[in-house]
Amino acid sequence: MAIFILERSVEPFMNFHIMTLFPEMIMGALSSSITGRASDKGYISFNAVNIRDYSNDNKHHKVDDYTYGGGAGMLMQAQPIYDCYLALKNSIEEKTDRKPRVIYVTPQGSVFNQKMASDFAKEDDLIFLCGHYEGVDERVLEEIVTDYVSIGDYVLTGGELPAMVMIDAISRLVPGVLNNDESAMTESFNNNLLEYPQYSRPEEWMGKKVPPILLSGDHKKVDEWRLEKSIERTKERRPDLYEKWLLENPPKPEKKKRRKKKTTQEAESVNLENLE
Ligand code: ADE
Repeated sequence: MAIFILERSVEPFMNFHIMTLFPEMIMGALSSSITGRASDKGYISFNAVNIRDYSNDNKHHKVDDYTYGGGAGMLMQAQPIYDCYLALKNSIEEKTDRKPRVIYVTPQGSVFNQKMASDFAKEDDLIFLCGHYEGVDERVLEEIVTDYVSIGDYVLTGGELPAMVMIDAISRLVPGVLNNDESAMTESFNNNLLEYPQYSRPEEWMGKKVPPILLSGDHKKVDEWRLEKSIERTKERRPDLYEKWLLENPPKPEKKKRRKKKTTQEAESVNLENLE
């Protein structure tokens, strides 16, 4: 049985377990770049398990079959997925005695967003189930799945890419994964605002100058400018997010101007006018 697991030095904050027919695809992508570095350093771990290894069919390791009632395509069968899940669940519960969440990546799920990513990032272990062919036998889904999640309203050939998208977004919220903790705090979608525009050297490029406020060294003014740009950008590019932000940040009512007390002379002249 081939279990793909990356080496690590300490107990990771988050263990990702992926049930898939293509473990090499998952491990190839996640072991590079930031997720790869984080797993080398031991902040996260990836454990991609081949569902085929749990097939009862010793000869062909079959994992799919025809759909009852007819219809095109093959369906992933319940048994190999369930046995694969049990093996993972038992190994997780030995360490934590907590039942792990199982995310089935499917276009029929709730659409993934930053809030879901931070919610999932609180778990110690997450199991992803990647479907293929025409889907998965409903009975095993009913038995094991806690969350049905999609990455958007389009259909991909399998669940591996969506699982990797979610794992990437969740990983970067795990402590230690990003070098600079701050960058996770200020980026797009925090408080429903998109990130402000950013500039690096040179100060002028193709006739375009860096906004002078960013060179001023006045941090308060820079923060105000960035917030203003974030709001502008969100309003223009993502009016749906802007509406949400507005609900949480309603404009402050303008302070009523206090009427200046009239001098006795002014009051007298008003009274005289009224008499006329
Ligand atoms: N599997 C196929 N398409 C998908 C999508 N859009 N989201 C999640 N899983 C999928």
